[in-house]
Amino acid sequence: MKVEELLCLGNQSLHKDTTKLLLATILDLNPLELNLHLNDLVPSNLVLKFQECLKSLEKGEPLQYALKRTNFYGLEFYVDSRVLIPRFETEELVANVSKYIEKYFNREIKVLDLCSGSGAIGLTLKSLNRDLDITLSDISPSALEVALINKEKLNLDVKLVESDLFTNIKDKYSIIVCNPPYIAYDDKEVTDLVLNNEPHLALFAKNNGLEFYERILSICENYLEDKYLIAFEIGYKQKEKVLELINKYLKDVSVITKKDMAGLDRMIYIFKNINVSE
Ligand SMILES: C[S@@+](CC[C@H](N)C(=O)[O-])C[C@H]1O[C@@H](n2cnc3c(N)ncnc32)[C@H](O)[C@@H]1O
Repeated sequence: MKVEELLCLGNQSLHKDTTKLLLATILDLNPLELNLHLNDLVPSNLVLKFQECLKSLEKGEPLQYALKRTNFYGLEFYVDSRVLIPRFETEELVANVSKYIEKYFNREIKVLDLCSGSGAIGLTLKSLNRDLDITLSDISPSALEVALINKEKLNLDVKLVESDLFTNIKDKYSIIVCNPPYIAYDDKEVTDLVLNNEPHLALFAKNNGLEFYERILSICENYLEDKYLIAFEIGYKQKEKVLELINKYLKDVSVITKKDMAGLDRMIYIFKNINVSE
């Protein structure tokens, strides 16, 4: 089939921009370039892939699961329904952690990506700095299978540990970076696309979404060096509550909160024995 015919087929059930994005991604083209290739014949394996993706999208799956890939921080990650689709705001968490590593740590430190899902955070940090000793840890064996696919696909040397938070963690780390499940069970803002497709284990947490922050903060110092950084992604309404938990469990720390590009409170950085200068 030709590019033009596939676009017509897709447009029967999808918005035309979605069809273009889907086909362009499968053909490894920029969507704007498609118009230059309307009469090109598409190889049969890619026609099949396009038809399979169409079926997934018609069933209401996210584009990233249909394509089995997503871009995070310029890297291509494999994703499917075993893991949360990494979000743009998490790229900001990675960018800041990377900046703080440069500023406050030496390059061979141990970093724990707790609740690692697809591995987006830990693998990206490793790709930015190959000297880091990185461990990805998640309670979900199937999420770890996806992280393993990404570790191999990106050819990055990281450790994978199946663990309910710190249960199977034995080392001490200089940095713990964590994007835990943080959505309250009764949150009404979660879209059907998310609710019906992404793993609930990755989304929801008890105690108004605060469960994991409290569980982590109450024992994390057993798994941290004397000089440390904890970097959390948070729900945009959770800043004050997480700050209260930090005050409850940690002494003599410096805390920086940051907003994401949308202007929402989204990240908390906790430093111990570091002279923070920003
Ligand atoms: C919000 S997702 C984050 C995934 C990934 N770090 C990212 O930013 O895209 C949370 C992850 O926490 C994991 N998780 C849930 N409960 C956990 C627990 N008790 N211990 C460790 N990981 C857990 C889920 O399996 C899921 O992969």
